[in-house]
Amino acid sequence: MNNKPTTNRQISPQSSAEDKRMALVIRPQQLADFTGQERMKANLTILIEAARARSEPLDHVLFHGPPGLGKTTLAQIVANEMGVNIRNTAGPAIERAGDLAAILTNLRAGDILFIDEVHRLGRAVEEILYPAMEDFVLDIVVGKGPGAKNVRLKLPRFTVVGATTRLALMTAPLRARFGAVYRMDFYEQAAIEQIVLRGARVLDVPIDPAGAAEIAQRSRGTPRVALRLLRRVRDYAQVRAEGEITQETAVSALNLLEIDELGLDNLDRRVLLAIIEKFGGGPVGLDTIGASISEESDTIMDVVEPYLLQLGFLERTARGRIATPHAYTHLNIPRSAQPDSKPGQPTLFET
Ligand SMILES: Nc1ncnc2c1ncn2[C@@H]1O[C@H](COP(=O)(O)OP(=O)(O)OP(=O)(O)O)[C@@H](O)[C@H]1O
Ligand SMILES: [Mg+2]
Repeated sequence: MNNKPTTNRQISPQSSAEDKRMALVIRPQQLADFTGQERMKANLTILIEAARARSEPLDHVLFHGPPGLGKTTLAQIVANEMGVNIRNTAGPAIERAGDLAAILTNLRAGDILFIDEVHRLGRAVEEILYPAMEDFVLDIVVGKGPGAKNVRLKLPRFTVVGATTRLALMTAPLRARFGAVYRMDFYEQAAIEQIVLRGARVLDVPIDPAGAAEIAQRSRGTPRVALRLLRRVRDYAQVRAEGEITQETAVSALNLLEIDELGLDNLDRRVLLAIIEKFGGGPVGLDTIGASISEESDTIMDVVEPYLLQLGFLERTARGRIATPHAYTHLNIPRSAQPDSKPGQPTLFET
């Protein structure tokens, strides 16, 4: 088996240049154009309308969930809906406390500060952020040596919109400063179909409903993946068919890309196979799995694991990951081929 890290994966966590170009045209600008996530949208609408009615800045908002579900898109939408400026930054980009102080002092009342990967802020930076979010003040030290003085500056009332794929890595004090926390889940099939159809309109490619349904079904409930697969199927339709996306062209194109009917690709299968064949079905830790197939455990944790958990192919236990009977069935591996579970093997824990 090929053990090289997958480089040109269709389902990678990062957005490609092509993704970004398409996002510019396709990214919904208003909440009403944002498909799916109905409950979250309802809650967010109330939050926004209430703040607007009181003519107050919005409370700090945190979006968390797997990559490509629309966190960045929503941050922009929130700014549009509130009619305010948005300043974009990311946890790793704010290296020193002074960097954050400079950003904060340049904000105007009502502005949104979008912090992507908010779990990756450094300790010193976070400490500046706490009073800024809570009391809209900035504590700085002026001067040096014995003459140094602590000075407290007032900041305009602003809103932090944070996004993270790793809620668990956020410190508790930072989490506590977000008044509204929204968890994003994988999208329903119908919502992804809508997103594919809308994407096809933007790309000006003819598509029939069955073709859209086929792409949606293999998109693991993720808009970014759906739009990417759509572009690949469009290429295929152009070169090998008459240009129109039908179910038949979608199936052929996606099979050629080795994306199966549930949306699993090579890396997903390699992870499952490693657990089953190298570690007797588990339990085994993520880092060990990653090392055994030369893949970053971060990628496995962010992109592979959430979807396999959702499918019920993987279980998380206190002692590591376990492949479930569904995974064996999907991969066509007989359970009996595995060594029997040893006597005294611990039962599964909930995490
Ligand atoms: N509900 C939606 N309707 C239509 N398009 C969407 C929706 N959600 C996301 N998209 C599209 O999917 C792509 C990915 O969305 P976005 O970049 O906002 O995801 P993200 O959650 O910020 O991902 P990451 O965690 O990797 O930063 C974008 O092109 C965006 O326009
Ligand atoms: Mg994003």
